[in-house]
Amino acid sequence: MRQFPFSRSRRNRKAQWSRNMVAEHCISPSDLVLPIFIKEGHNEMEPISSMSGAFRVSIDNLVKTAKEARSLNIPAIAVFPCITKELKDEKGSESLNKDNLVCRAIKELKDKVPELGVIADIALDPYTTHGHDGVLDKKGNILNDETVEILCEQALTLSKAGCDIVAPSDMMDGRIGAIREVLEDEGFSDTQILAYSAKYASSFYGPFRDAVGSRSLLGSKDKKTYQMDFSNSNEALTEVELDISEGADIVMIKPGLPYLDIIRRIKDNFNIPVFAYQVSGEYAMIKTAAAAGLIDEEKAFLETLVCFKRAGASGVFTYAAIEVAKGL
Ligand code: PBG
Repeated sequence: MRQFPFSRSRRNRKAQWSRNMVAEHCISPSDLVLPIFIKEGHNEMEPISSMSGAFRVSIDNLVKTAKEARSLNIPAIAVFPCITKELKDEKGSESLNKDNLVCRAIKELKDKVPELGVIADIALDPYTTHGHDGVLDKKGNILNDETVEILCEQALTLSKAGCDIVAPSDMMDGRIGAIREVLEDEGFSDTQILAYSAKYASSFYGPFRDAVGSRSLLGSKDKKTYQMDFSNSNEALTEVELDISEGADIVMIKPGLPYLDIIRRIKDNFNIPVFAYQVSGEYAMIKTAAAAGLIDEEKAFLETLVCFKRAGASGVFTYAAIEVAKGL
């Protein structure tokens, strides 16, 4: 390589058009998935105090947001339910009710905005009185195989409602294979599985747990016996390898920004689409810092989202999807 002054890295950086021309990565609305919280009622749009700019919306308003997302070229939406306490129990039974909030939302979305992909979480935490993703034994241990059986039923229930992509976020062992088998057997071979393969036990999920109403139920307990230890990276490769062999179509790394190294390692080691989740705590940090005048919100979202792409993500879940898509 010839040296300075023949080589000047700054030449390509001299103007915006030139920087655009040589840019290695960019973000477009088609890379974004909008996660959204839903609740019962009509014309409801309840602010979530720990996530400024995010709301719990009733199904009618969900459809409005979905249409907006579609018109902005956002390919898919992920729905998360906030149900009343009376519907919660130890086993998360409401998750299997074919007329539950999520099933009705999916039907309405597929009816009114059919070109928009609909993603639904597979996990019990919005439905349990203890806030865990699975069922417990008498000592409070999360039972793996018993939980997987319920998750399979949940995946089938959501698929019957018309869900395009089921997204197991529970981190039980063997659930991807079990769900895939049930879906194949029941005629849902086209339902995609987006596996939350490397999901870490993270403090960045706090605002999400407020949003679905599981934080106070979980109390001081954590999810460390099923979600991954943030000290580990090789283990993420094992989890992804297992999920691919069990029939996952897309794998998710979560949280996002502190785990870019994991995204890169997965991308380099496997030929499967990798998604990242800019989780509630990350979203809240940007929003809060921007509200305090410390950073520019729009620029910060844009930068972090391009960073996900640079790390190797094909798509990113972000609560800021609509705002970002509007700015692009
Ligand atoms: C439920 C689930 C969680 C998130 C997505 N699905 C919370 C958790 O595991 O406690 C977190 C998303 C976010 O923080 O934005 N299993």
